[in-house]
Amino acid sequence: MSSGVRSLSVSAGFASTQRMDRWWVSPAATAFGLAVLFGYLMARAFYPTHVWFDPYISPVVAPPLVTPASGYPGSVPVDVAWLGAFPAWWPAILPRSPAFFIPALAIAFRFTCYYYRGAYYKAFAMTPPSCTVRGLPRRYLGETRLLWFQNLHRYTLYAALFVLACLWWEGFAAFFRDGRFGIGVGTVIMLVNAGLISGYTFGCHSWRHLIGGKLDCFSCNGVVSPRYRLWKNSTWLNERHMLFAWVSLGWVVFTDLYIYLVSSGAVTDLNTW
Ligand code: FES
Repeated sequence: MSSGVRSLSVSAGFASTQRMDRWWVSPAATAFGLAVLFGYLMARAFYPTHVWFDPYISPVVAPPLVTPASGYPGSVPVDVAWLGAFPAWWPAILPRSPAFFIPALAIAFRFTCYYYRGAYYKAFAMTPPSCTVRGLPRRYLGETRLLWFQNLHRYTLYAALFVLACLWWEGFAAFFRDGRFGIGVGTVIMLVNAGLISGYTFGCHSWRHLIGGKLDCFSCNGVVSPRYRLWKNSTWLNERHMLFAWVSLGWVVFTDLYIYLVSSGAVTDLNTW
């Protein structure tokens, strides 16, 4: 008598699966989105022209530790960069970009993010490309050896908090041009950028652990710990971490693009100054 269980033959080839849905849409869209957005940001990091239009500064180079004194139209003024111009001994073969200093810490934070890891492992490494889909044949080593650095994510969070504070500072500084208070479209765009990155950062798993971890109970002494409210808010953001990851990344690109267009004269910034 038949047991009623039908056995299906399983192919061992790459991308073989018994799934009937269009499982490949998500990794393909992820690969496309990451390639476009990070590709744009990398290109801008290597050639940071028109990243400044007083009082706006692109998040690609913010906060600027050093700045090129010449050769990059629309670069951050020397007196605005924390340490002034690139030193004379800087090798000519290397790009003179502020992006490779403090802003690079934000990239390290994103690169080691638990969400992004899962996304780009599936989209690019394809081991496997999706659940129950056979991946490329590779020996699984986990995040050891070459990928050991992924364990540093909690430390990149501390750096990202510093960068975030700088972005808020620069957003509020964008209310002032030559000491006069005002507001422009760029001010709003920069503040939204800081807000979306806050949503992304405070939904981080490591942040959630930092503020809510190592506690057995939030109210054991009869008083609800303030950490409980923080943890609850972080949990709300954590549940939407993927959303904030994409929207904030896209808004960084948009903020840079807007400042580029205004700084290069292609677009006129509406403002009250
Ligand atoms: Fe995504 Fe920390 S887990 S930023």
